[in-house]
Amino acid sequence: MNDKMVKALNEQINNELYASYLYLSMSAWFETQNWPGFAKWMKVQSQEEYEHAMKIYDFLIDRGQTVVLAAIAAPKAEWKKPIDAFKDAMAHEKKVTGNFQDLTDLAIKLKDHATQIFLSWFVTEQVEEEKNADEVIQALVKIGDSTGALFMLDRQLGKRED
Ligand SMILES: [Fe+2]
Ligand SMILES: [Fe+2]
Repeated sequence: MNDKMVKALNEQINNELYASYLYLSMSAWFETQNWPGFAKWMKVQSQEEYEHAMKIYDFLIDRGQTVVLAAIAAPKAEWKKPIDAFKDAMAHEKKVTGNFQDLTDLAIKLKDHATQIFLSWFVTEQVEEEKNADEVIQALVKIGDSTGALFMLDRQLGKRED
C-alpha cells in the first residue's frame, strides 16, 4: 500500500477513536444531568465509533500494514443544553464525512481499488450518522423548553441497543 494512504488511514483511526471519546464524554455529561436515555444513546454511539476505528485497524492489518496509534485529544466535557451536545455531534459527523471524501479521493488518485471499495462502506455509513444526529436535533428543536416532551424523548432514545 502507498505510504500516504496508510498514514491517512491511521489518522482516521484516531479520528474515530476521538469520536468515540467525544460521545462517551457526552454520555457522562447526560448522566450528570439525569437524562439516562440520552446517556444510553451516546454510550451506544461511542461503542459504534470504536467499532469504526477497529474496522480500519483490521483493514490495515489484513493488508500487512503497520497500525500506529497516536494520542487521543481530550473532548469537551460540558454543554449548556441537550441540543448543544447533539449540535456538536452533528458538527463532528460532518467533519468525519469530509474525512472519508478526502480518503476516497486519495484512494482514487492512487488507483488503490481495494481501499476505495473498503471506504465506500463508511461513505454510506456517514449518511446514516448525519441523519441520526439530525433527527434528534429536529426533535429537540420542536420540544423547545417543554420538560414533559424532553422526558418522553429521553425515554425513547434510551431504548437504543445498537
Ligand atoms: Fe465513525
Ligand atoms: Fe460517527
